[in-house]
Amino acid sequence: MREERYENDHDYSRVQSFLSKVDTLFDVHLIEEKKKFEEQEIVALCSEFFTSGTDTTSTNLEWIIANLVKHLRIQVKLFEEIKGVISKGETEIKDEDLDKMPYLRAVILESLRLHPPTHFLIPHSITKDVVLVGFLVPKNSFMIFMVADMGTCGKIRWNSSRRDS
Ligand code: HEM
Repeated sequence: MREERYENDHDYSRVQSFLSKVDTLFDVHLIEEKKKFEEQEIVALCSEFFTSGTDTTSTNLEWIIANLVKHLRIQVKLFEEIKGVISKGETEIKDEDLDKMPYLRAVILESLRLHPPTHFLIPHSITKDVVLVGFLVPKNSFMIFMVADMGTCGKIRWNSSRRDS
């Protein structure tokens, strides 16, 4: 299927510089199972990828809008920031404007803190014994991060200043 697509694509430089996620899945060798992915498995992984990209983003946007409706002061401040970065006559915020919008960034991060679209992240496996705040987490156990609770835990200081690397 992939070879067929490449044969019909006459812009070879484009083909060479892009490697789509689906193409990488065709090349995966599952070492333990000694096989490649079946077509249905590739379809399932693609569907998972679309869901993880769309549900999370739309849920976060819904929470942001709901909270801006509730908190007018923040809505006004954000609107002022938007007006300050877009040029006259423009109606859209461009990628390069985003660097000049710390308040928008704060609004998005605050929404992710209070309403993380995934409550538990993906379970992570532990490859060696680790001691976390005095508790032993043994090798081969699963670690589940309860980010929703961590975001609202009174013991974590979320307002400390931070610098992005
Ligand atoms: C607000 C938007 C998003 C949020 C809150 C979000 C959240 C997350 C979280 C919490 C994880 C699990 C990380 C971990 O436990 O290690 C994850 C993984 C993933 N996300 Fe997102 N995500 C967002 C947007 C997207 C988008 C736009 C895409 C794709 C275009 C995407 C694709 C994925 C994929 C493929 C994984 C699995 C990564 C892996 O296998 O390690 N996500 N995301």
